[in-house]
Amino acid sequence: MSTIQKKLLLITGAAGQVGSALRPLLRERYRLRLLDRQPITPVEDEEAIAGDICDAALAERAVAGADAVLHLACIHGPAVKFESTLGPNYQATLQLLEASQRHGVKRFVFASSHHVLGQYRADAAHFFDALKPAPDSYYGMSKVFGESACASYALRGGPASFVIRIGNADAQVSDARRLRIWVSIRDLAQLICIGLEHPAVVSEIVYGVSNSPNPLFANTRAIDLGYQPQDNARDFLAPGFLDRDAMDPQSSGRDHVGGAYAAAALASVL
Ligand SMILES: NC(=O)c1ccc[n+]([C@@H]2O[C@H](COP(=O)([O-])OP(=O)(O)OC[C@H]3O[C@@H](n4cnc5c(N)ncnc54)[C@H](O)[C@@H]3O)[C@@H](O)[C@H]2O)c1
Repeated sequence: MSTIQKKLLLITGAAGQVGSALRPLLRERYRLRLLDRQPITPVEDEEAIAGDICDAALAERAVAGADAVLHLACIHGPAVKFESTLGPNYQATLQLLEASQRHGVKRFVFASSHHVLGQYRADAAHFFDALKPAPDSYYGMSKVFGESACASYALRGGPASFVIRIGNADAQVSDARRLRIWVSIRDLAQLICIGLEHPAVVSEIVYGVSNSPNPLFANTRAIDLGYQPQDNARDFLAPGFLDRDAMDPQSSGRDHVGGAYAAAALASVL
């Protein structure tokens, strides 16, 4: 009897919060190649590569033989300076896309962020999906670049790309702003699998959000592609959940899509 070989998925940043939570769910469907500069102990159906994604030779080795890439690794934070984003968030993303094209990788799922829209006020009575980017940080700007690079490669030889603007992927919902953008790991895994497998994907941008009582994003493209979130953020409130009135009006950035990122002063360029 012949067994069907699972496809090989390279996950960058696999030792991080999101990658660690996703591993058991994605392992059910894919063999996983886990890349991070932090050490990872692989289990069955996994292999691990330790190193820096800025190293082009390492990126080449990591991509070789993979059917698809889930690119999570990056530097992030409200105070991250422009210069420190250049290697991991710009050059490494390009190197991975280029290597993916050379090796015939079919799909590239890119972890973007709601911070590409972070500078908008969140109290407008409309969905935010279709607004032009207004990033709240050098981190957010680098995600806009990553999204653009994904689209360019998708339309000039591949790989087809699926950009997920992740809302908030913490285990629980900590405040009223995150209540509108939170995603459970199982919903995020479902969305990633759509990005990896749906035949219509060429160059897409969707939102990584679960259901919410008051969503910021309508996420119609994801729903058109078959996304059916199983979880609602209102069922995952953290013990110390802060409603809007309990949030500091200044430092929390409660009235902006990007929260504290939008409230913080933009770090100086260098
Ligand atoms: N966690 C969230 O709520 C959230 C929200 C929006 C977007 N995202 C995006 O999802 C992705 C994963 O986020 P996370 O919360 O797991 O972040 P994280 O910081 O927990 O994990 C990132 C991982 O990338 C690795 N990494 C960073 N630079 C590297 C390099 N140069 N070489 C090799 N490895 C490197 C780190 O070691 C880390 O393990 C990121 O792209 C992030 O922007 C996350």
